[in-house]
Amino acid sequence: MRMVDLIEKKRDGEKLTAEEIRFIVQGYTQNEIPDYQMSALLMAIYYQDMTDDEITSLTLEMAHSGDVIDLSSIHGIKVDKHSTGGVGDTTTLVLAPLVASIGVPVAKMSGRGLGHTGGTIDKLEAIPGFQVEISNQTFTDLVNQSQVAITGQSGDLAPADKRLYALRDVTATVDSIPLIASSIMSKKIASGADAICLDVTTGDGAFMKNIKDAERLAKTMVRIGKLADLKTMAVISDMSQPLGEAIGNSLEIVEAIEALKGHGPADLMEMVYVLGSQMVVLAEKADSLGAAREQLEAAVQSGKALAKFKEMIHNQGGDAEVIDHPEKLLTAKYTFELKALESGVVARLRADEIGVAAMLLGAGRKTKEDTIDYAVGLKLHKKVGMPVKKGESLLTIYANQADVTEVEKLLYQNIAIKDHGEEPILIHEIITE
Ligand code: URA
Ligand code: CA
Repeated sequence: MRMVDLIEKKRDGEKLTAEEIRFIVQGYTQNEIPDYQMSALLMAIYYQDMTDDEITSLTLEMAHSGDVIDLSSIHGIKVDKHSTGGVGDTTTLVLAPLVASIGVPVAKMSGRGLGHTGGTIDKLEAIPGFQVEISNQTFTDLVNQSQVAITGQSGDLAPADKRLYALRDVTATVDSIPLIASSIMSKKIASGADAICLDVTTGDGAFMKNIKDAERLAKTMVRIGKLADLKTMAVISDMSQPLGEAIGNSLEIVEAIEALKGHGPADLMEMVYVLGSQMVVLAEKADSLGAAREQLEAAVQSGKALAKFKEMIHNQGGDAEVIDHPEKLLTAKYTFELKALESGVVARLRADEIGVAAMLLGAGRKTKEDTIDYAVGLKLHKKVGMPVKKGESLLTIYANQADVTEVEKLLYQNIAIKDHGEEPILIHEIITE
Protein backbone atom coordinates (compact mmCIF):
# COMPACT_ATOMS: atom_id res chain seq x y z
CA MET A 1 0.00 0.00 0.00
CA ARG A 2 1.20 3.51 -0.72
CA MET A 3 0.01 6.55 1.21
CA VAL A 4 -0.12 8.69 -1.94
CA ASP A 5 -2.72 6.34 -3.47
CA LEU A 6 -4.86 6.54 -0.33
CA ILE A 7 -4.70 10.33 -0.32
CA GLU A 8 -5.79 10.33 -3.96
CA LYS A 9 -8.63 7.91 -3.21
CA LYS A 10 -10.00 10.11 -0.42
CA ARG A 11 -9.40 13.27 -2.45
CA ASP A 12 -11.65 11.79 -5.15
CA GLY A 13 -14.38 10.98 -2.65
CA GLU A 14 -13.92 7.25 -2.45
CA LYS A 15 -14.25 5.16 0.68
CA LEU A 16 -11.21 3.85 2.54
CA THR A 17 -11.29 0.24 3.77
CA ALA A 18 -10.58 -0.86 7.35
CA GLU A 19 -7.20 -2.24 6.19
CA GLU A 20 -6.28 1.04 4.54
CA ILE A 21 -7.20 3.01 7.65
CA ARG A 22 -5.12 0.64 9.77
CA PHE A 23 -2.16 1.15 7.42
CA ILE A 24 -2.54 4.93 7.78
CA VAL A 25 -2.90 5.11 11.57
CA GLN A 26 -0.17 2.57 12.27
CA GLY A 27 2.15 4.08 9.68
CA TYR A 28 1.68 7.55 11.10
CA THR A 29 2.13 6.42 14.72
CA GLN A 30 5.34 4.60 13.77
CA ASN A 31 6.70 7.62 11.89
CA GLU A 32 6.58 5.81 8.55
CA ILE A 33 4.11 8.31 7.15
CA PRO A 34 5.33 11.93 7.26
CA ASP A 35 3.28 14.89 8.50
CA TYR A 36 2.95 16.36 4.98
CA GLN A 37 1.16 13.28 3.66
CA MET A 38 -1.01 13.01 6.75
CA SER A 39 -1.88 16.72 6.41
CA ALA A 40 -3.01 16.17 2.83
CA LEU A 41 -5.18 13.24 3.90
CA LEU A 42 -6.73 15.26 6.74
CA MET A 43 -7.65 18.02 4.30
CA ALA A 44 -9.14 15.46 1.90
CA ILE A 45 -11.23 14.06 4.80
CA TYR A 46 -12.26 17.60 5.71
CA TYR A 47 -13.71 18.12 2.23
CA GLN A 48 -14.89 14.60 1.37
CA ASP A 49 -16.17 13.40 4.77
CA MET A 50 -16.23 9.77 5.88
CA THR A 51 -18.87 7.06 6.16
CA ASP A 52 -19.81 5.56 9.54
CA ASP A 53 -17.74 2.48 8.72
CA GLU A 54 -14.69 4.59 7.96
CA ILE A 55 -15.13 6.67 11.12
CA THR A 56 -15.54 3.51 13.20
CA SER A 57 -12.35 2.00 11.75
CA LEU A 58 -10.47 5.24 12.40
CA THR A 59 -11.81 5.40 15.97
CA LEU A 60 -10.88 1.80 16.79
CA GLU A 61 -7.40 2.13 15.27
CA MET A 62 -6.70 5.27 17.30
CA ALA A 63 -8.19 3.72 20.46
CA HIS A 64 -5.79 0.78 20.14
CA SER A 65 -2.73 2.86 19.27
CA GLY A 66 -1.71 2.96 22.96
CA ASP A 67 -2.88 1.76 26.37
CA VAL A 68 -6.44 0.52 26.73
CA ILE A 69 -7.53 0.77 30.36
CA ASP A 70 -9.01 -2.38 31.83
CA LEU A 71 -11.80 -1.55 34.28
CA SER A 72 -13.10 -5.12 34.41
CA SER A 73 -12.11 -5.45 38.09
CA ILE A 74 -14.71 -2.80 38.91
CA HIS A 75 -18.12 -4.33 39.59
CA GLY A 76 -21.13 -3.14 37.65
CA ILE A 77 -21.68 -1.18 34.47
CA LYS A 78 -19.20 1.68 34.26
CA VAL A 79 -20.78 4.75 32.68
CA ASP A 80 -18.64 7.64 31.53
CA LYS A 81 -19.87 11.14 30.88
CA HIS A 82 -18.15 13.41 28.41
CA SER A 83 -18.77 16.99 27.42
CA THR A 84 -17.48 18.42 24.16
CA GLY A 85 -16.50 21.55 26.06
CA GLY A 86 -17.98 24.45 27.89
CA VAL A 87 -17.57 27.51 30.04
CA GLY A 88 -18.30 27.25 33.77
CA ASP A 89 -19.49 23.71 33.14
CA THR A 90 -19.70 22.35 36.68
CA THR A 91 -21.79 19.31 35.67
CA THR A 92 -19.19 16.55 36.16
CA LEU A 93 -18.31 17.76 39.67
CA VAL A 94 -21.95 17.37 40.67
CA LEU A 95 -22.80 14.27 38.65
CA ALA A 96 -19.92 12.06 39.77
CA PRO A 97 -20.79 12.00 43.50
CA LEU A 98 -24.53 12.22 42.82
CA VAL A 99 -24.86 9.13 40.61
CA ALA A 100 -22.26 7.29 42.75
CA SER A 101 -24.45 7.94 45.80
CA ILE A 102 -27.17 5.76 44.29
CA GLY A 103 -24.80 2.95 43.38
CA VAL A 104 -23.60 3.74 39.83
CA PRO A 105 -19.84 3.09 39.65
CA VAL A 106 -18.06 6.22 38.42
CA ALA A 107 -14.47 5.65 37.26
CA LYS A 108 -13.86 9.05 35.79
CA MET A 109 -10.86 10.14 33.85
CA SER A 110 -10.89 13.87 33.28
CA GLY A 111 -8.77 16.47 31.62
CA ARG A 112 -7.39 19.91 32.31
CA GLY A 113 -8.71 23.11 30.85
CA LEU A 114 -7.25 25.12 28.01
CA GLY A 115 -8.27 28.52 26.65
CA HIS A 116 -11.83 29.47 27.48
CA THR A 117 -12.86 25.95 28.58
CA GLY A 118 -12.29 24.67 32.10
CA GLY A 119 -11.27 21.17 33.14
CA THR A 120 -12.66 19.11 36.01
CA ILE A 121 -9.18 18.08 37.19
CA ASP A 122 -8.14 21.70 37.72
CA LYS A 123 -11.33 22.40 39.63
CA LEU A 124 -10.76 19.46 41.98
CA GLU A 125 -7.21 20.64 42.61
CA ALA A 126 -8.70 23.85 44.03
CA ILE A 127 -9.55 21.70 47.07
CA PRO A 128 -6.47 21.72 49.35
CA GLY A 129 -4.74 18.35 49.28
CA PHE A 130 -6.89 16.73 46.58
CA GLN A 131 -4.84 14.16 44.64
CA VAL A 132 -5.73 13.55 41.01
CA GLU A 133 -2.62 11.49 40.27
CA ILE A 134 -3.51 8.14 41.78
CA SER A 135 -2.30 4.68 40.76
CA ASN A 136 -4.54 2.45 38.66
CA GLN A 137 -4.83 0.09 41.62
CA THR A 138 -5.95 2.85 44.00
CA PHE A 139 -8.34 4.13 41.35
CA THR A 140 -10.12 0.79 40.90
CA ASP A 141 -10.04 0.05 44.65
CA LEU A 142 -11.68 3.38 45.41
CA VAL A 143 -14.43 2.82 42.84
CA ASN A 144 -15.11 -0.65 44.25
CA GLN A 145 -15.24 0.61 47.85
CA SER A 146 -16.80 3.98 47.39
CA GLN A 147 -18.35 3.94 43.83
CA VAL A 148 -16.40 7.01 42.74
CA ALA A 149 -12.90 8.21 41.90
CA ILE A 150 -11.67 10.89 39.53
CA THR A 151 -8.21 10.87 38.03
CA GLY A 152 -6.21 12.81 35.48
CA GLN A 153 -5.61 10.97 32.23
CA SER A 154 -3.25 8.18 33.17
CA GLY A 155 -1.18 6.09 30.81
CA ASP A 156 -0.68 6.68 27.14
CA LEU A 157 -4.26 6.82 25.88
CA ALA A 158 -4.79 7.02 22.12
CA PRO A 159 -1.35 8.48 21.24
CA ALA A 160 -2.34 8.48 17.56
CA ASP A 161 -5.09 10.94 18.42
CA LYS A 162 -2.67 13.14 20.36
CA ARG A 163 -0.38 13.44 17.35
CA LEU A 164 -3.21 13.84 14.86
CA TYR A 165 -4.88 16.48 16.98
CA ALA A 166 -1.68 18.52 17.11
CA LEU A 167 -1.38 18.24 13.32
CA ARG A 168 -5.04 19.21 12.81
CA ASP A 169 -4.49 22.23 15.01
CA VAL A 170 -1.92 23.67 12.59
CA THR A 171 -3.52 22.55 9.30
CA ALA A 172 -7.02 24.03 9.77
CA THR A 173 -8.62 20.58 10.01
CA VAL A 174 -9.88 20.57 13.61
CA ASP A 175 -13.35 21.52 12.48
CA SER A 176 -14.30 18.26 10.82
CA ILE A 177 -17.10 16.13 12.20
CA PRO A 178 -15.60 12.69 11.34
CA LEU A 179 -12.26 13.80 12.84
CA ILE A 180 -13.82 15.23 16.02
CA ALA A 181 -16.08 12.21 16.48
CA SER A 182 -13.24 9.71 16.07
CA SER A 183 -10.93 11.78 18.29
CA ILE A 184 -13.39 11.89 21.19
CA MET A 185 -14.64 8.31 20.85
CA SER A 186 -11.14 6.81 20.54
CA LYS A 187 -10.22 8.25 23.95
CA LYS A 188 -13.50 7.07 25.47
CA ILE A 189 -13.00 3.55 24.17
CA ALA A 190 -9.38 3.49 25.41
CA SER A 191 -10.49 4.61 28.87
CA GLY A 192 -12.46 1.42 29.40
CA ALA A 193 -16.07 2.41 30.14
CA ASP A 194 -19.01 0.16 29.24
CA ALA A 195 -21.40 2.96 28.42
CA ILE A 196 -21.10 6.61 27.60
CA CYS A 197 -23.28 9.61 28.05
CA LEU A 198 -22.21 12.47 25.77
CA ASP A 199 -23.02 16.12 26.30
CA VAL A 200 -22.62 17.76 22.90
CA THR A 201 -22.61 21.49 23.53
CA THR A 202 -23.65 24.09 20.99
CA GLY A 203 -23.29 27.86 20.74
CA ASP A 204 -20.51 30.44 21.12
CA GLY A 205 -18.75 28.60 23.94
CA ALA A 206 -18.72 25.25 22.13
CA PHE A 207 -16.95 23.53 19.24
CA MET A 208 -20.21 23.26 17.37
CA LYS A 209 -21.60 26.73 16.80
CA ASN A 210 -25.01 25.62 15.55
CA ILE A 211 -27.53 22.94 16.41
CA LYS A 212 -27.39 21.26 13.01
CA ASP A 213 -23.66 20.54 13.31
CA ALA A 214 -24.04 19.50 16.95
CA GLU A 215 -26.76 17.09 15.92
CA ARG A 216 -24.60 15.57 13.21
CA LEU A 217 -21.67 15.18 15.59
CA ALA A 218 -23.89 13.65 18.28
CA LYS A 219 -25.53 11.20 15.88
CA THR A 220 -22.17 10.21 14.45
CA MET A 221 -20.70 9.53 17.89
CA VAL A 222 -23.75 7.56 19.02
CA ARG A 223 -23.61 5.38 15.88
CA ILE A 224 -19.89 4.68 16.12
CA GLY A 225 -20.23 4.01 19.87
CA LYS A 226 -22.76 1.33 19.04
CA LEU A 227 -20.68 -0.12 16.21
CA ALA A 228 -17.84 -0.36 18.76
CA ASP A 229 -20.13 -2.19 21.26
CA LEU A 230 -20.42 0.68 23.68
CA LYS A 231 -23.84 1.76 24.93
CA THR A 232 -23.91 5.39 23.86
CA MET A 233 -26.34 8.30 24.04
CA ALA A 234 -26.00 12.05 23.60
CA VAL A 235 -27.67 15.20 24.81
CA ILE A 236 -27.42 18.37 22.74
CA SER A 237 -27.20 21.28 25.14
CA ASP A 238 -26.86 25.03 25.02
CA MET A 239 -23.48 26.66 25.57
CA SER A 240 -24.27 30.08 24.15
CA GLN A 241 -23.93 31.45 27.70
CA PRO A 242 -21.91 29.91 30.55
CA LEU A 243 -23.61 27.12 32.50
CA GLY A 244 -24.69 28.00 36.02
CA GLU A 245 -23.36 31.11 37.71
CA ALA A 246 -19.77 30.32 38.70
CA ILE A 247 -16.80 30.32 36.33
CA GLY A 248 -13.47 29.61 37.98
CA ASN A 249 -12.08 26.72 39.95
CA SER A 250 -12.85 27.38 43.64
CA LEU A 251 -16.04 29.18 42.69
CA GLU A 252 -17.21 26.09 40.81
CA ILE A 253 -16.42 23.80 43.77
CA VAL A 254 -18.65 26.04 45.89
CA GLU A 255 -21.30 25.93 43.16
CA ALA A 256 -21.09 22.12 43.07
CA ILE A 257 -21.57 21.93 46.85
CA GLU A 258 -24.67 24.14 46.55
CA ALA A 259 -25.99 21.99 43.69
CA LEU A 260 -25.50 18.81 45.71
CA LYS A 261 -27.61 20.43 48.43
CA GLY A 262 -30.28 21.11 45.79
CA HIS A 263 -29.63 24.86 45.68
CA GLY A 264 -27.62 25.15 42.48
CA PRO A 265 -28.59 27.43 39.59
CA ALA A 266 -31.63 26.15 37.67
CA ASP A 267 -29.80 25.40 34.40
CA LEU A 268 -27.03 23.48 36.14
CA MET A 269 -29.55 21.47 38.19
CA GLU A 270 -31.52 20.59 35.06
CA MET A 271 -28.38 19.45 33.17
CA VAL A 272 -27.38 17.35 36.17
CA TYR A 273 -30.77 15.64 36.43
CA VAL A 274 -31.12 15.04 32.69
CA LEU A 275 -27.62 13.61 32.21
CA GLY A 276 -27.72 11.84 35.57
CA SER A 277 -30.99 10.06 34.73
CA GLN A 278 -29.49 8.83 31.47
CA MET A 279 -26.40 7.55 33.33
CA VAL A 280 -28.51 5.72 35.90
CA VAL A 281 -30.56 4.01 33.17
CA LEU A 282 -27.41 3.11 31.18
CA ALA A 283 -25.99 1.58 34.38
CA GLU A 284 -29.24 -0.40 34.76
CA LYS A 285 -29.97 1.02 38.21
CA ALA A 286 -33.45 2.17 37.13
CA ASP A 287 -35.94 1.02 34.50
CA SER A 288 -37.03 4.43 33.34
CA LEU A 289 -35.72 7.96 33.17
CA GLY A 290 -38.51 9.09 35.50
CA ALA A 291 -37.60 6.52 38.14
CA ALA A 292 -33.92 7.44 37.78
CA ARG A 293 -34.66 11.11 38.28
CA GLU A 294 -36.70 10.38 41.41
CA GLN A 295 -33.76 8.47 42.89
CA LEU A 296 -31.39 11.32 42.09
CA GLU A 297 -33.67 13.98 43.56
CA ALA A 298 -34.10 11.87 46.70
CA ALA A 299 -30.31 11.53 47.07
CA VAL A 300 -29.99 15.31 46.93
CA GLN A 301 -32.86 15.83 49.40
CA SER A 302 -31.54 13.32 51.92
CA GLY A 303 -27.98 14.65 51.89
CA LYS A 304 -26.64 11.35 50.52
CA ALA A 305 -25.22 13.03 47.40
CA LEU A 306 -23.33 15.68 49.37
CA ALA A 307 -22.05 13.04 51.81
CA LYS A 308 -20.66 11.14 48.81
CA PHE A 309 -18.80 14.23 47.61
CA LYS A 310 -17.31 14.60 51.10
CA GLU A 311 -16.27 10.95 51.06
CA MET A 312 -14.72 11.33 47.60
CA ILE A 313 -12.70 14.38 48.70
CA HIS A 314 -11.53 12.56 51.82
CA ASN A 315 -10.61 9.41 49.85
CA GLN A 316 -8.41 11.39 47.50
CA GLY A 317 -6.54 13.25 50.24
CA GLY A 318 -8.50 16.50 50.10
CA ASP A 319 -9.67 18.67 52.97
CA ALA A 320 -13.32 17.57 53.33
CA GLU A 321 -13.95 20.47 55.73
CA VAL A 322 -14.60 22.61 52.65
CA ILE A 323 -18.01 20.94 52.35
CA ASP A 324 -19.21 22.56 55.57
CA HIS A 325 -17.10 25.69 55.16
CA PRO A 326 -17.04 26.44 51.44
CA GLU A 327 -16.13 30.06 52.19
CA LYS A 328 -12.65 28.69 53.04
CA LEU A 329 -12.12 28.29 49.30
CA LEU A 330 -12.96 31.88 48.38
CA THR A 331 -9.64 33.56 48.94
CA ALA A 332 -9.37 36.12 46.12
CA LYS A 333 -7.89 39.38 47.39
CA TYR A 334 -10.28 41.67 45.53
CA THR A 335 -13.88 41.63 44.35
CA PHE A 336 -15.42 44.03 41.86
CA GLU A 337 -19.04 44.39 40.77
CA LEU A 338 -19.65 44.83 37.04
CA LYS A 339 -22.58 47.26 36.98
CA ALA A 340 -25.19 47.40 34.23
CA LEU A 341 -24.76 50.55 32.16
CA GLU A 342 -28.44 50.62 31.21
CA SER A 343 -31.77 49.05 32.13
CA GLY A 344 -33.35 46.29 30.05
CA VAL A 345 -33.13 42.54 29.62
CA VAL A 346 -29.92 40.54 29.29
CA ALA A 347 -29.91 39.45 25.64
CA ARG A 348 -26.46 37.97 25.36
CA LEU A 349 -23.67 36.64 27.57
CA ARG A 350 -21.21 35.35 25.05
CA ALA A 351 -19.83 32.17 26.62
CA ASP A 352 -16.44 31.92 24.90
CA GLU A 353 -15.42 35.53 25.59
CA ILE A 354 -16.63 35.36 29.18
CA GLY A 355 -14.48 32.24 29.49
CA VAL A 356 -11.57 34.27 28.11
CA ALA A 357 -12.22 36.98 30.72
CA ALA A 358 -12.01 34.35 33.49
CA MET A 359 -8.83 33.02 31.89
CA LEU A 360 -7.28 36.50 31.85
CA LEU A 361 -7.91 36.76 35.59
CA GLY A 362 -5.89 33.54 35.95
CA ALA A 363 -8.69 30.95 36.20
CA GLY A 364 -7.55 29.23 32.99
CA ARG A 365 -4.52 28.64 30.79
CA LYS A 366 -3.58 30.45 27.61
CA THR A 367 -0.97 27.77 26.88
CA LYS A 368 -0.54 24.28 28.32
CA GLU A 369 2.38 25.51 30.45
CA ASP A 370 0.47 28.28 32.28
CA THR A 371 -0.35 27.87 35.95
CA ILE A 372 -3.81 28.44 37.39
CA ASP A 373 -5.00 30.71 40.17
CA TYR A 374 -7.77 28.70 41.83
CA ALA A 375 -9.20 31.64 43.75
CA VAL A 376 -10.17 33.87 40.84
CA GLY A 377 -13.11 33.90 38.46
CA LEU A 378 -16.58 35.27 37.85
CA LYS A 379 -19.95 34.84 39.45
CA LEU A 380 -22.89 35.77 37.25
CA HIS A 381 -25.92 37.39 38.88
CA LYS A 382 -27.89 37.85 35.69
CA LYS A 383 -28.37 35.33 32.92
CA VAL A 384 -29.87 35.69 29.45
CA GLY A 385 -33.56 36.57 29.65
CA MET A 386 -33.35 38.24 33.07
CA PRO A 387 -34.36 41.87 33.57
CA VAL A 388 -31.72 44.25 34.92
CA LYS A 389 -31.73 47.84 36.17
CA LYS A 390 -29.04 50.39 35.42
CA GLY A 391 -26.43 50.25 38.17
CA GLU A 392 -27.32 46.73 39.31
CA SER A 393 -24.49 44.19 39.45
CA LEU A 394 -24.35 41.88 36.43
CA LEU A 395 -21.58 39.80 37.94
CA THR A 396 -18.86 39.77 40.56
CA ILE A 397 -15.21 39.59 39.52
CA TYR A 398 -12.95 37.69 41.95
CA ALA A 399 -9.37 38.79 41.33
CA ASN A 400 -5.90 38.75 42.78
CA GLN A 401 -5.01 41.91 40.88
CA ALA A 402 -6.03 45.44 41.81
CA ASP A 403 -6.57 46.55 38.21
CA VAL A 404 -9.19 44.67 36.18
CA THR A 405 -9.89 47.36 33.58
CA GLU A 406 -9.07 45.09 30.62
CA VAL A 407 -11.24 42.28 31.93
CA GLU A 408 -14.15 44.66 32.54
CA LYS A 409 -13.80 46.01 29.03
CA LEU A 410 -13.92 42.54 27.52
CA LEU A 411 -16.95 41.64 29.64
CA TYR A 412 -18.87 44.76 28.65
CA GLN A 413 -18.16 44.01 24.97
CA ASN A 414 -19.70 40.57 25.34
CA ILE A 415 -22.77 41.28 27.43
CA ALA A 416 -25.73 42.80 25.63
CA ILE A 417 -28.67 44.47 27.37
CA LYS A 418 -31.63 45.09 25.09
CA ASP A 419 -35.40 45.60 25.17
CA HIS A 420 -35.96 41.87 24.85
CA GLY A 421 -33.92 38.80 25.54
CA GLU A 422 -35.03 35.23 25.67
CA GLU A 423 -33.76 32.52 27.95
CA PRO A 424 -32.14 29.96 25.62
CA ILE A 425 -33.46 26.42 25.39
CA LEU A 426 -31.11 24.38 27.58
CA ILE A 427 -31.56 20.94 26.10
CA HIS A 428 -32.24 20.81 22.40
CA GLU A 429 -32.41 17.13 21.82
CA ILE A 430 -31.65 13.71 23.25
CA ILE A 431 -30.15 11.24 20.81
CA THR A 432 -30.18 7.56 21.50
CA GLU A 433 -29.67 6.21 18.00
N1 URA B 1 -12.25 17.27 21.53
C1 URA B 1 -11.46 16.23 21.20
O1 URA B 1 -11.06 15.46 22.05
N2 URA B 1 -11.13 16.07 19.91
C2 URA B 1 -11.54 16.90 18.95
O2 URA B 1 -11.20 16.68 17.81
C3 URA B 1 -12.37 17.97 19.30
C4 URA B 1 -12.71 18.12 20.60
CA1 CA C 1 -20.85 26.94 36.55
